[in-house]
Amino acid sequence: MTDLKKIKKEAEKEIGSAKDLKELQDVFNQYLGKRGELTQILRSLKDMPKRERIMFGKDANDVKNALTIAFDEKSAGLKAGEARAAEEKEWIDVTAPGKKIAVGHLHPLTLAKRKTMEIFQSMGFAVAEGPDIETEWYNFDALNIPKDHPARDVWDTFYLKDGPLLRTHTSPVQIRYMEKNNPPLRIIAPGTVYRHESTDSSHEFQLYQVEGLMVDKDISVANLKAVVGEFFRRFFEKEVDFRLRPDFFPFVEPGFDISITCLVCGGKGCSVCKETGWLEVAGAGMVHPNVFKAAGLSPEWQGWAFGFGLERLAMLKYRINDIRLFRSSDLRFLNQF
Ligand code: DAH
Repeated sequence: MTDLKKIKKEAEKEIGSAKDLKELQDVFNQYLGKRGELTQILRSLKDMPKRERIMFGKDANDVKNALTIAFDEKSAGLKAGEARAAEEKEWIDVTAPGKKIAVGHLHPLTLAKRKTMEIFQSMGFAVAEGPDIETEWYNFDALNIPKDHPARDVWDTFYLKDGPLLRTHTSPVQIRYMEKNNPPLRIIAPGTVYRHESTDSSHEFQLYQVEGLMVDKDISVANLKAVVGEFFRRFFEKEVDFRLRPDFFPFVEPGFDISITCLVCGGKGCSVCKETGWLEVAGAGMVHPNVFKAAGLSPEWQGWAFGFGLERLAMLKYRINDIRLFRSSDLRFLNQF
């Protein structure tokens, strides 16, 4: 009898202090499980003399019932508590203000490149591409720049091991395209070029260029001026004056540099245009017969070509004063576009 009372007291205490359902289950097993203390007592009843069995049996069963009820109540309480905790955790405040999601946007050079492509495509130009790693043949020889010709020095070249190089301009795409396509043709070729140069606010060793090429039977400088003028108007979204002055590039004859009136001072002269009122933005000219020959075409064809620096155009359009900003990954710069 004392054992029974002791068991009841201890079990009730342990039930009361069980912190979760698992602990409660352990307590249950200890007393009422298959080998539980109380279970064993109940099992031993059958070996008792009849009178004792009746008396003791009733008490033992009362304890069992009382403990079962205590377990059930405690279990229900714990379950409710756990449900409440889960609810608390998953609760969503539908009235809370939303969080602003940061959305990426296009890089200013991508914007300038896309705009350029869109304008030329609307004038019937296809977009062509060539590899960044070029051979000397495509980058120089085929463009009428023979080995040992001093003109090669103009392009400070990154040479790779055993011959290939990083293209110094997009002009080799002219050759690659003409090898595969017969005139009449009009293309632009945007792409990265590399120069072995030290950097400052107007020099980078990695640049974007846009090459242009138009070949037909009867193409003249007048066509070049018309196309380029239309491009400037649409790219800068205003009337821009431009001029062609004689310049030398081995792959064109005659060759020009193209300048536009300074967009900052309107041509009056300022620090951006170094007081000249003009800004150089491209090289251009009539395709040299040797270039046609190198690409396997008859030198009878006529055509013009140009090469723009895309950074230069973007700097003028968006008023950027340091070319190094483009590849700086500086968010204070990039977030302005
Ligand atoms: N490839 C020249 C450079 O990188 C630019 C250029 C000049 C391209 C004249 C042309 C051209 O197509 O006709 O400096």
